[in-house]
Amino acid sequence: MSVIEKLIKAHLVKVNTYKSVDPPELLAEKAGIPRDKIIKLNGNENPKEPSEKIKQAVASAAFNIYPDPLQRSVRAALSEYTGMSPDYIIASAGSDELIDLLFRLFISEGDKILDFEPTFAMYGFCARIAGGSVTMASRDENFDVDIGATKNIIDEKTKIIFLSSPNNPTGNMANRDQIEELLQADLLVVVDEAYFEFCNTTVADLIPKYENLVVLRTMSKWAGLAGLRIGYGIMSPKLVNHIIDIKSPYNLSVASEAALVAALNESDALMREVAKIVDERERMYKLLQDINGIHPFPSDGNFILCGFEEGKVDHVYQGLANQGIFVRKFDSPRLSNHFRISVGKPDQTDRLISVIKELV
Ligand SMILES: Cc1ncc(COP(=O)(O)O)c(C=O)c1O
Repeated sequence: MSVIEKLIKAHLVKVNTYKSVDPPELLAEKAGIPRDKIIKLNGNENPKEPSEKIKQAVASAAFNIYPDPLQRSVRAALSEYTGMSPDYIIASAGSDELIDLLFRLFISEGDKILDFEPTFAMYGFCARIAGGSVTMASRDENFDVDIGATKNIIDEKTKIIFLSSPNNPTGNMANRDQIEELLQADLLVVVDEAYFEFCNTTVADLIPKYENLVVLRTMSKWAGLAGLRIGYGIMSPKLVNHIIDIKSPYNLSVASEAALVAALNESDALMREVAKIVDERERMYKLLQDINGIHPFPSDGNFILCGFEEGKVDHVYQGLANQGIFVRKFDSPRLSNHFRISVGKPDQTDRLISVIKELV
């Protein structure tokens, strides 16, 4: 055994890691297609490039100085955007970082989280890294959660319930009553609203009532800043202070701070783009519905999950990839006959649909 393997935490020597998407350059190389010709619909990113104003704000950020560890200007801007007081808000390097911080704060080896499968893989991944485990609560045939069924599977080791709403990759929302029911258990309930702006439905207003509720948001999807890594959470001021105590002091770069403030200054224009994405999602949904052999699921996010007949999905997935169109497949056993398509620009939808039609 090498010295590294001898010293490394035993549960991390061989870890089932997070399967992330390849960068566009690599996708282009794999498909043998120029970078500007590939259609990347596998990361739920925003197809629109940031505005000149946002680019300018990033370019003129003071890179030689560390950012404010208490994120004052960022939290003030987010306070105005969300209507929550700044002491309820903390920002992070993507909401991924905040998920990780919640694990650092709450999950020791042997602890458990409750996850509604299939869902965003980051929760299970962070649980494995923390040495914790995941209790899976199942979803029905429409991927809706059955809160009643969770009662028997929560035990004294369970500490956090994660609920993505809308759920990635299935696209459906959890309802408010269900969330309030979950909040009755003495556990942390994390409602991940990464796609909030596409559905305009939130439980953030419940936070002053429930100190065990955390809402996660991101600038990656609606605001088109995925590459800059900016997320934030809304939660009780007490929990915000615990996060501040354990986070790395300068977790948000000055470039990210500048982009966030500039994006929130033009949130109206960004929301007009969100409305276009929602229209495009509905158009794509109808086009997919008209193709025999594909079952698209209704979605409140910027993506659509598609189900295929047994054994058919790989042919379509690979056929699309060969033509430079990249969608997302998953490891989850319940999704072995599915892939997820992110909503892109109208011409990308048209090309996608015509290639799918050739393939099925
Ligand atoms: C449900 C959900 N939460 C969080 C994230 C991560 O977002 P971020 O880019 O802010 O880390 C994603 C990204 O796909 C997501 O789908």
